Amino acid sequence: MEAAKTIKSVRKLVKAARDKGKKIGFVPTMGALHIGHISLIKKAAKECDFVVVSVFVNPTQFGPGEDFKKYPRPFKSDLAICRKAGVDVVFAPSPQEMYKKENLTWVNVEKLTEPLCGRSRPGHFRGVATVCAKLFNIVTPDVAYFGQKDAQQAIVIKRMVADLNMPLKIVIYPTVRQADGLAESSRNKYLSEQQKKDATCIYKALKKSESLIRAGTTKSKTIIDEMKKVLNRVPSIEIEYISIVDAETLRNIEKITGKVLAVVAVKIGSTRLIDNIVVDAGKR
Ligand code: PAJ
Repeated sequence: MEAAKTIKSVRKLVKAARDKGKKIGFVPTMGALHIGHISLIKKAAKECDFVVVSVFVNPTQFGPGEDFKKYPRPFKSDLAICRKAGVDVVFAPSPQEMYKKENLTWVNVEKLTEPLCGRSRPGHFRGVATVCAKLFNIVTPDVAYFGQKDAQQAIVIKRMVADLNMPLKIVIYPTVRQADGLAESSRNKYLSEQQKKDATCIYKALKKSESLIRAGTTKSKTIIDEMKKVLNRVPSIEIEYISIVDAETLRNIEKITGKVLAVVAVKIGSTRLIDNIVVDAGKR
């Protein structure tokens, strides 16, 4: 496995692989790798001949007062995880390498970035879309792998790739959870043992929405109220949003039909956690 810090060096490594006819798989990450990331890497290794993982805590997707500075950066153990998972190249650039002195070009995906996390984190998806566009141009993968855990991000990136005719395929991998339902996340590292226990109510609320939809409940408001009850049982949880949205357009829906996404964002202490579940309600 190679570790590349410069754009020039990662391009050279990818070119050598492509010249040998290898299919390039890419997993963009911000590091602090966990089983969720590892599953994406393993899927890439299974489907492609050459796997690149980027480890880059992207400053432009963090807002003022967010956790950019304290975001975990256990680079040595990330490298060990990548080596074990079958990665060929880890691309770990500095912010200067990625953004030079001044970046004047930004990718702004409209509409899909307005609701949910777009509302609570203004500018977040502009940073995500821009860094992914840059990474795709640098790594030139045939396939890039993203997690369903960040449902809105996955939809935004898919749309950017389609709208800008980028020559790669986006694969979305299901959310990897702990046995108690808590979605794996680099930000779980901020949680105390008690907070980790408290956080399991997020998945309980999502499962509640699923069972209500499967039982035939059609009003989103009824479902959201029930989800609120589950979350409100845990005093340390502060709800940022709960929504039932169309799984493709992310528009709020009042009457459940087709493929829907139940989405939750909460704060536990100063840690922000998001999660979601896809439910196919069929035609109603
Ligand atoms: P990061 O949070 O490190 O996540 C990297 C990838 O892993 C994302 O596609 C994310 O959805 C996926 N992932 C995280 N937790 C997961 C889980 N429990 N199960 C399945 N997949 C999971 O998302 C980012 O970084 C950044 O925004 C990035 C795309 C790298 C741009 O900076």
